[in-house]
Amino acid sequence: AAPRVIFSGIQPTGVPHLGNYLGAMQQWVKLQNDASSNTSLIYSVVDLHAITVHQNPDALRTSKKEMLAALLAVGLDPQKCTIFFQSDVPAHSELMWILSCSASMGYLSRMTQWKSKLDLDENANPLDPSSKTKLKLGLFSYPVLQAADILIHKATHVPVGHDQSQHLEFARECAAGFNHLAGSKVLVQPETLLSLAKRVMALDRPTHKMSKSAPNPKSRILLTDSSSAISKKLRVALTDSIEGVTYDPSARPGVSNLIEIAFNLDSSNHGAADPAEYAKEFEGLSLKALKDKVAEVVDGHLAPIRARFEEIVGGDGKILEEAAQIGAEKARKSAESTMKEVRHAVGF
Ligand code: ADP
Ligand code: NA
Repeated sequence: AAPRVIFSGIQPTGVPHLGNYLGAMQQWVKLQNDASSNTSLIYSVVDLHAITVHQNPDALRTSKKEMLAALLAVGLDPQKCTIFFQSDVPAHSELMWILSCSASMGYLSRMTQWKSKLDLDENANPLDPSSKTKLKLGLFSYPVLQAADILIHKATHVPVGHDQSQHLEFARECAAGFNHLAGSKVLVQPETLLSLAKRVMALDRPTHKMSKSAPNPKSRILLTDSSSAISKKLRVALTDSIEGVTYDPSARPGVSNLIEIAFNLDSSNHGAADPAEYAKEFEGLSLKALKDKVAEVVDGHLAPIRARFEEIVGGDGKILEEAAQIGAEKARKSAESTMKEVRHAVGF
């Protein structure tokens, strides 16, 4: 089979929540564990993307450490994958500049993510001189950096959630545009590796996704939450007043979210093929008893991750430093080999 290069990035948002874990990190570990010898896995903590909104520098440094520690704690191995901080590889920014010189402003302005970050509506035009939006150049053009992240490693496959497929399409455009100008196939157009993971919903508002930015800290479970914190958060999770346990995401979003969380974290799954079948296990339980069961499953899955996390951040920092260094070296090497061709193609 043809060699595969899989690239994915995650923002340094500190200790991840269950949504990050089930939506991204768990799949990364699975890809690592299933990878054949001709697959390379490249995972980046994308700190250059983080600064598209203002960050407190000390808080950012802490969040970077916590995210790297979490990636190691969930089972990613710096020997098997390339795990690195984006800012440790300046060539990402260099390729971004080169791609910027042929990226279409019109295309970028039609992309929706900067609009949602600024709470703007679909038709907002930031280039209108009378626009009062606080849109910064970096936030507007960050899909170009995202394209550079992917293309610089000649990724063939990129795992994406549904909210990101637009960006991968843009990366393909960037590659095609560059290759056209260069007159040769320097850059590789990546394919989507669609994640099967469902969205994890907020515990207090199961119609919204679990998110680090929601004001209520009880809306999310963090990978490092203690047993008692997990129980407490689940005990106050919003469910409904229907008796018994059934899986029905549209009529019972709260209950179904809890079932899905447990289904995805329960290593045995009781042999169930999907959350609906898994729910039958709990049919006769009260919702309070269901919450206790879910707490048990979540805690059982997170306990070893929590312990490894504490080991990693608790020491003298050597584990993190070493992992970051190994990753940076591998990523620089991979980036540099592409950049040699890119620089030559543009005439440097
Ligand atoms: P947040 O929404 O908390 O800001 P990010 O946007 O930094 O999280 O997302 C990091 C990764 O985690 C992405 O791959 C994203 O798709 C995934 N993710 C975030 N929240 C959820 C969720 N509630 N359910 C599933 N996946 C999620
Ligand atoms: Na987000």
